[in-house]
Amino acid sequence: MNDADHRQFLIGNYAPPSIEIVRGEGSKLWDANGEEYLDFTSGIAVSTLGHGNPRWIEALTRQAGKLAHCSNLFSIPEQVRLAKRLVSRIGPGRMLFCNSGAEANEGLIKLARLAGSKAGGPLEGKTRILVAENGFHGRTMGALSATESPKYRKRFEPLLKGFDFAPLNDLPAFEEKIEDDTVAVLVESIQGEGGIREAEDEFLQGLQKICREKQVLLMLDEVQSGIGRTGDFLGYQKAGISPDAVALAKGLGGGFPIGAFWVEESWSDLFEPGSHGTTFGGSPLACSVAHAVLDVIEEEGLVESVRKKGSVFKEGLSRLAQNYPKFVSNVRGRGFMLALVMTEDPGKFIEALRKKGLLVVAAAGNCVRFLPPLTSDLTEIEKALHVTEAVLKTLQTKPRA
Ligand SMILES: Cc1ncc(COP(=O)(O)O)c(C=O)c1O
Repeated sequence: MNDADHRQFLIGNYAPPSIEIVRGEGSKLWDANGEEYLDFTSGIAVSTLGHGNPRWIEALTRQAGKLAHCSNLFSIPEQVRLAKRLVSRIGPGRMLFCNSGAEANEGLIKLARLAGSKAGGPLEGKTRILVAENGFHGRTMGALSATESPKYRKRFEPLLKGFDFAPLNDLPAFEEKIEDDTVAVLVESIQGEGGIREAEDEFLQGLQKICREKQVLLMLDEVQSGIGRTGDFLGYQKAGISPDAVALAKGLGGGFPIGAFWVEESWSDLFEPGSHGTTFGGSPLACSVAHAVLDVIEEEGLVESVRKKGSVFKEGLSRLAQNYPKFVSNVRGRGFMLALVMTEDPGKFIEALRKKGLLVVAAAGNCVRFLPPLTSDLTEIEKALHVTEAVLKTLQTKPRA
């Protein structure tokens, strides 16, 4: 790796990377030195089908040869078809496409503003958005305003006004914080960056009830927890709720940038020509790739298989937590969105896993996140558990510094 060039030509926005990844296949990645890794990061919950999936490549190359981009000046058949497909998975409503998770959440924030600015509408004059503490919604200034943690906000203030925060799973706190001028509530069904914290079914059901009673929009950020990752197509679906708006990105393109948001039918015509827009959003290329991701998910029954494989994985991680309580205090999550909660900062542990060929991601609260591609099989899960246990064993036998 050319460290000097990396430092000289790239803005130092990301922590200095330890390895240079050059190739991937299935759940495996290889670095520039030919070292092989089991990729349980999925590029932070993105590579739904793993790397180099033939169906994904075929869709990408076929569409690239036909038409990559034409902008939303024109109707794009792949986009219309993708919208129809997602609506059939989410509920009666409409889609708008964009390019990332932060942008999808910007769309939800704009929906809230549009609802509040509709003269004579039920939410007229309301502007405040209530969000869960410890959540993460992206780095653009709007999405950042919805992100409570000072770690992300500091040095970028003043941010957008009008965001309130309440602790996840604390229904009375949410109810109390919905004020007369609150227009919407925004939560993740499983907080990802916040440390794999699940919104309980009863909480989501109660929140929906309160939002309906108080006539407030219920908006779900499914950017990380969506597209099969939790063992449901969308994480909130486990609770059986019907939100008013949903943000998607990450896993939808399986490695090709695409974001989207869905708005329930009765609110969806708040957007009119010119309300919002993006040059690249919903391109023929991005939408064709997303179709391939959904095709494979459906044909291979990946949502159901993630639910099953995820519970085997979680059992294995729970055994490790039981056997190594000095280092692991808890296991959280479901499906392929799991975390070991460590008793101290997991930086060195994650590095030790990498040295043994397993790639994982840190999250807030001393978490080690396991986000395998949905296509990862039980052999790979066993391998990940084996490597994790091997590293825990070395910690056990080593006196702490
Ligand atoms: C729940 C959630 N929302 C939004 C985002 C932002 O997505 P992006 O990085 O694509 O802008 C993320 C990214 O980690 C996320 O986990």
